Amino acid sequence: MLVALFAALVLLCYSAGNIHCVVAVHGNDSDMLALLEFKDAIGDDPAGVLSSWNKTTPFCRWNGVKCGRREHRVTALELAGQNLTGRLAAASLGNLSYLHLLDLSGNRFSGQIPRLNSLRKLQVLNLSNNILDGIIPDTLTNCSSLTQLDLSINLFQGQIPLGIGLLSELSDLVLSRNYLSGHIPSELGKLSKLSSLDLSVNIISGEIPRALYNLSSLRMLFLEMNFLGKSLPSNIGYALPNLQWLLLGVNMFQGNIPGSLGNISQLHLIYLSENNFSGQIPSSLGKLSNLSVNLQYLLLDGNNLSGHIPSNMGNLQQLTQLDLSYNNLKGKMPPSLGNLQRLVSFNLSNNNLQGDIPSKFGDLQQLVWLNLGNNYLHGEVPSSVANLQQLVLLDLSHNNLSGKVPRSLGNLPKLRQLDLSHNNFGGKIPSSLANLRQLSRLDLSYNSLKGFYA
Ligand SMILES: *[C@@H]1O[C@H](CO)[C@@H](O)[C@H](O)[C@H]1NC(C)=O
Ligand SMILES: *[C@@H]1O[C@H](CO)[C@@H](O)[C@H](O)[C@H]1NC(C)=O
Ligand SMILES: *[C@@H]1O[C@H](CO)[C@@H](O)[C@H](O)[C@H]1NC(C)=O
Ligand SMILES: *[C@@H]1O[C@H](CO)[C@@H](O)[C@H](O)[C@H]1NC(C)=O
Ligand SMILES: *[C@@H]1O[C@H](CO)[C@@H](O)[C@H](O)[C@H]1NC(C)=O
Ligand SMILES: *[C@@H]1O[C@H](CO)[C@@H](O)[C@H](O)[C@H]1NC(C)=O
Ligand SMILES: *[C@@H]1O[C@H](CO)[C@@H](O)[C@H](O)[C@H]1NC(C)=O
Ligand SMILES: *[C@@H]1O[C@H](CO)[C@@H](O)[C@H](O)[C@H]1NC(C)=O
Ligand SMILES: *[C@@H]1O[C@H](CO)[C@@H](O)[C@H](O)[C@H]1NC(C)=O
Ligand SMILES: *[C@@H]1O[C@H](CO)[C@@H](O)[C@H](O)[C@H]1NC(C)=O
Ligand SMILES: *[C@@H]1O[C@H](CO)[C@@H](O)[C@H](O)[C@H]1NC(C)=O
Ligand SMILES: *[C@@H]1O[C@H](CO)[C@@H](O)[C@H](O)[C@H]1NC(C)=O
Repeated sequence: MLVALFAALVLLCYSAGNIHCVVAVHGNDSDMLALLEFKDAIGDDPAGVLSSWNKTTPFCRWNGVKCGRREHRVTALELAGQNLTGRLAAASLGNLSYLHLLDLSGNRFSGQIPRLNSLRKLQVLNLSNNILDGIIPDTLTNCSSLTQLDLSINLFQGQIPLGIGLLSELSDLVLSRNYLSGHIPSELGKLSKLSSLDLSVNIISGEIPRALYNLSSLRMLFLEMNFLGKSLPSNIGYALPNLQWLLLGVNMFQGNIPGSLGNISQLHLIYLSENNFSGQIPSSLGKLSNLSVNLQYLLLDGNNLSGHIPSNMGNLQQLTQLDLSYNNLKGKMPPSLGNLQRLVSFNLSNNNLQGDIPSKFGDLQQLVWLNLGNNYLHGEVPSSVANLQQLVLLDLSHNNLSGKVPRSLGNLPKLRQLDLSHNNFGGKIPSSLANLRQLSRLDLSYNSLKGFYA
């Protein structure tokens, strides 16, 4: 009844154009006071986004403010990417008790997160990309409706508060690029609706708590660039069947790469680079399955992987980037890799690979970067290399390759870097290389070459 009366008055006042009248009855004074206090704590507003925030305009029409239709209470405050500086005034935001969405990402807010514990309706809190510091307060725990919490790209330190495990509606938790330390709390394993967990680029140590493998709804797991270690459980692929993005690179993980990853049918990206994984590359990754039609990036470089490259990896038909460099892989390169028709970046450098360069690699027509350097490859460069018309980089250095430098290399119109150094190439340097207009780096040193053809 009261609400209806307010609404009627508001309409009346709008149509009469009586601004002062509107202010008197429109919405709740405590919301307006809170917003004005929020504005007071802002030092600089270079884009002038808050210039409309004055008492002659009803606060529900201020830039970035949204109100509910019925209550005329502030339900959303969206001021992303406005270069605002200043602090988040303690009392102000915490008093906007009808707030559903608070997005202040991409500004220059500093200081600590104020108490927001009375914001029971808050669903989205995005403070990403500011210069906030201090700890992440446990008082966020009372914001029990939160579905998305993004505090990434700030200066937060200390541990991830255990209370986050009580935010049972959470689907996105993004705390990346801070200075968070300590362990990943097992309490996060209670977040049964979690779809995206991003703790990347922090200084978190310890292992992934077992409880996290209870989060079967997880689609994105971003833990790269921390100090996480120990091995991954062999059943990870059954525990997290909905994973699409798995990023664990630049940590201290060891042990085998679990073969059960091959049972995750939706995986797009596997990034395990720069850890201490050992053992063989599981052949289950390449078995014909749903994974083989989804996987686009397989990055296992900078580990301690040994054994042969499984030849069924040629089944990964969507693969655009394959990096197995800096491992201890041996044996021949399987010709079946020439089936990876979408491959753009292919790096097998710095292993112990032997044998020829398969002529089938000439089928990789999308290839832009090819690096097979620092292995024990021998034989001649197959003439099919001339088919790689998109090639920008070709590095075959530090092998035992022999024969002539193929004349057809001069027909690769986009080639910028050509490194054939430290091999046994003989004969004369083909004059066709002079056709390479884009070439900025050419290294033919440490071979048995005898000058140019005329
Ligand atoms: C405004 O909101 C506060 C806190 O929610 C409440 O105590 C007060 O009664 C409200 N005032 C009006 C006029 O609705
Ligand atoms: C916030 O609410 C507290 C208590 O509810 C009140 O004392 C304070 O004045 C309010 N601050 C603003 C800016 O509205
Ligand atoms: C208040 O904001 C309105 C825009 O909403 C603007 O036209 C007006 O000039 C402002 N008044 C003052 C006193 O700044
Ligand atoms: C914020 O600052 C950046 C860099 O100074 C500038 O490019 C951008 O246009 C500014 N944005 C706004 C909304 O003023
Ligand atoms: C937070 O805002 C940034 C843009 O400023 C956006 O890129 C990011 O996706 C948002 N976070 C969430 C969880 O939606
Ligand atoms: C959370 O809410 C409860 C009940 O309303 C209250 O007793 C408690 O103090 C609040 N906790 C925090 C951290 O604000
Ligand atoms: C995983 O969830 C099950 C039930 O859903 C529970 O019994 C078990 O304790 C949980 N495991 C961990 C490590 O939290
Ligand atoms: C890598 O793991 C092996 C055990 O598989 C261990 O012996 C070695 O010390 C680890 N290396 C590093 C650099 O952590
Ligand atoms: C996992 O994949 C293997 C083949 O690599 C298959 O034999 C097994 O049945 C799969 N397990 C499940 C639970 O899908
Ligand atoms: C694999 O894909 C097929 C067709 O897209 C689908 O019917 C099937 O359910 C998928 N299997 C799994 C384990 O996701
Ligand atoms: C690589 O793994 C082997 C065991 O397979 C281990 O002996 C060796 O220490 C590891 N190398 C490094 C650098 O961790
Ligand atoms: C492997 O080669 C690709 C393409 O040249 C490159 O982007 C990548 O950084 C290389 N990997 C390593 C570990 O250097």
